[in-house]
Amino acid sequence: MAKRDSFSGRFAVLVALIGSAVGLGNLWRFPYLVGTNGGAAFIIIYLFFVFVLCTPIVFSEFLMGRRTQANTFGAYKKLAPGTKWNWVGLIAVISALCVLAFYSVVGGWTIDYLIKSLTFKFTTADQGTLATMFRDSVSSVWEPIIYLILFLGFTCIVVAKGIKGGIEKFSKMVMPLLFVLVVAIAVNSLLLPGSSKGVEFLFKPDFSKVTADTVLNALGQAFFSLSIGCGTIMTYASYVSKKENISITASLTSLFDTLFAMIAGLAIMPAVFAYGISPSEGPGLVFITLPHIFAQMPGGSIIAIAFFIILFIAAITSSISLLEVPVAYFKEEFNMSRGKSVIICFFFLLALGVLSSLSQGVLADVKIFGLNFFDLFDFMSANIFMTGGGLLLVLFVGWKLKKSDFMDEMSNGGTLKIKKWFLEAVYFIVKYVAPLVIITVMLANLIK
Ligand code: PHE
Repeated sequence: MAKRDSFSGRFAVLVALIGSAVGLGNLWRFPYLVGTNGGAAFIIIYLFFVFVLCTPIVFSEFLMGRRTQANTFGAYKKLAPGTKWNWVGLIAVISALCVLAFYSVVGGWTIDYLIKSLTFKFTTADQGTLATMFRDSVSSVWEPIIYLILFLGFTCIVVAKGIKGGIEKFSKMVMPLLFVLVVAIAVNSLLLPGSSKGVEFLFKPDFSKVTADTVLNALGQAFFSLSIGCGTIMTYASYVSKKENISITASLTSLFDTLFAMIAGLAIMPAVFAYGISPSEGPGLVFITLPHIFAQMPGGSIIAIAFFIILFIAAITSSISLLEVPVAYFKEEFNMSRGKSVIICFFFLLALGVLSSLSQGVLADVKIFGLNFFDLFDFMSANIFMTGGGLLLVLFVGWKLKKSDFMDEMSNGGTLKIKKWFLEAVYFIVKYVAPLVIITVMLANLIK
């Protein structure tokens, strides 16, 4: 068998993993959640979840991929041969496709808006006009589908070129730019008169706003932001060298993802407050409110371009990591070439994406369980596949995999000097704490 493709070193793995983690979730969801859930109070809870609960889960996904050097389905098959556990690997594949089915539609919107910013379309500061512009763009039939095809096509080209030649090369090129641009916009926002209110909104702890919902939101966001539970980490880790230190690489991923979320908050909220706007949720903030602000800001047309470049890079690097999950699965389990596997995924995702896209307009009334296609894919991936997949993953690593295998993989066969108490603590969290917390959250969401 031909040698499996791999990342060339730690920097390559890191930029790819951070590219997966940093996405639309960091840019519009995080700042909003912080602001409406008690500022720093939310951040403290979020940090706790990210580093204490979720990073050990990231370790688990990582070690399974690295140990087996296989796609998600193959990984479970290798570690638990002759059992039904490989179905969990298949859930990861479905979950990645499900996220992509709506994520790539929004990815298409980012291209649309990048082009709009490059052609200076945000000259009006009238929010009504901008809102109509957004609604018209996303609800029309062909325009968003064409951008969807562009976005998916671009994602497929990078993935088709393989790990070293495609994903690694592309991530190394765009991820540093992503950080530079977001820092530049944050500095600019902080220099606006009246920006301090936005900083206060983000960082002033207000524990009176902390409710059970806050805790649920913080955990859900940590899961989504770290890309846990849909096989992206496991799949990328399967291309990682046996010499890599899992605890360091995975912790750095969590750290940079969180850092980026904070900087994104500083880029967005101070500007929102400087222009006296109340922060609103979801796509509206990014595609309506921000263009409204850019139109009034000195140098705003340049900032708008930089911002939509950020949004595009954030979306595409996440989509690339998601696409690699089914591509690796088809390639290895059905013995296909990478190219053929990418083409199959492209057409399949195009069909799902077109349904999501049309559900913003002509198919708005077609509902399954009361949700249109876009919301259905969103809901199923966040609430069923990602959390369910995450739960089954920790149950597998904590209860099915041998503890000695866990310790062996985390310490590279005992060659790394990692404190024993640290590994024991991580193991304890994966085995007992994580399943309990995830089950509690799932039940809480069900009751809601
Ligand atoms: N973490 C990405 C974000 O914050 C989303 C994502 C989820 C990417 C799952 C890959 C896998 O937007």
